[in-house]
Amino acid sequence: MGVKQRILSGMRPSGKLHLGNYAGALENWISLQDKYENFFFVADWHALTTNPSAAFEVRKNTRDMVIDWLSAGIKPENPIFIQSEIKEHAELHLLFSMLITSARLERNPTLKEQIRDLDTENISYGHLGYPVLQAADILIYKANVVPVGEDQAPHVEITREIARKFNSTYSNVFPEPATKLTKFARLPGLDGRKMGKSNNNYILMADKEADIFAKVRTAITDPQKVRRHDPGNPEICNVYWLHKKFNSKEIPQITRDCKSGALGCVDCKKNCAGKIAKYFEPLRQHRAEYERSPDLVEDILRDGISRARKVAKQTMDEVHLAMHMG
Ligand code: TRP
Repeated sequence: MGVKQRILSGMRPSGKLHLGNYAGALENWISLQDKYENFFFVADWHALTTNPSAAFEVRKNTRDMVIDWLSAGIKPENPIFIQSEIKEHAELHLLFSMLITSARLERNPTLKEQIRDLDTENISYGHLGYPVLQAADILIYKANVVPVGEDQAPHVEITREIARKFNSTYSNVFPEPATKLTKFARLPGLDGRKMGKSNNNYILMADKEADIFAKVRTAITDPQKVRRHDPGNPEICNVYWLHKKFNSKEIPQITRDCKSGALGCVDCKKNCAGKIAKYFEPLRQHRAEYERSPDLVEDILRDGISRARKVAKQTMDEVHLAMHMG
């Protein structure tokens, strides 16, 4: 069988995770754990590229996010670590920055989309170089596979270009990593837009049933279904997505009863909140355990950092050798 291929998975620290993070990434990470060798990391420097003041929240957000990872089933046998603790990422980022043109980075479609969303042309030098830092993250561990959503695929493409450029300029050090696209389409938020913290349309994995219900209650359903017994169209209902993901068993019945008018939205939402709460009940229990013993998370991170650092240092030795420098 040979050695397992290596995966590098990372997220920017956004605090407690929502159901969109789960369906769009974390669930996929968990399912890939056994087939591959895994490294998991918190991309905290990346969090500063669009907002340098995010630094003040990075510690707490990292901790909250890592507790969700662990509670959902990410196993600490794999190194779990924090980008800013491995300074070698920064050195490799600097060296890589000479191997790609600014014009190439300006053509990055993900950046163009972000500029449109931010409504400004004035992005920082660090934001332009976001994919170069990401390339350093990936290549310093010589990852073969990177699981990402579609918006991140251009960054893995840039990573491959940088690997090729390094290998041809100096000598062959880096593999060209493959993209593994997440299967599940983005889970829409309660208002139908992409689920996200800034859109305030999210449910947290760690939310209690009462909080989930309070949020699901506000979800936009079929606007034509005004009274309880009006027939509804589930295909345009934002609660239906949640049922599909977290209550798939009842989908045929819900579809029938919504269409016929037998099922009212309040009952349907209550049922949905209950199913989501039940789905994440083990996670909430694990989370409570981690919160009772704060040292546990610190120990896991310390161990992950030291293991990641070893690999990163080894790669940098090869880089220095290849460049006859450093
Ligand atoms: N850009 C990724 C995101 O926003 C986070 C990230 C940074 C990453 N470096 C990475 C993901 C390396 C995978 C590999 O989701």
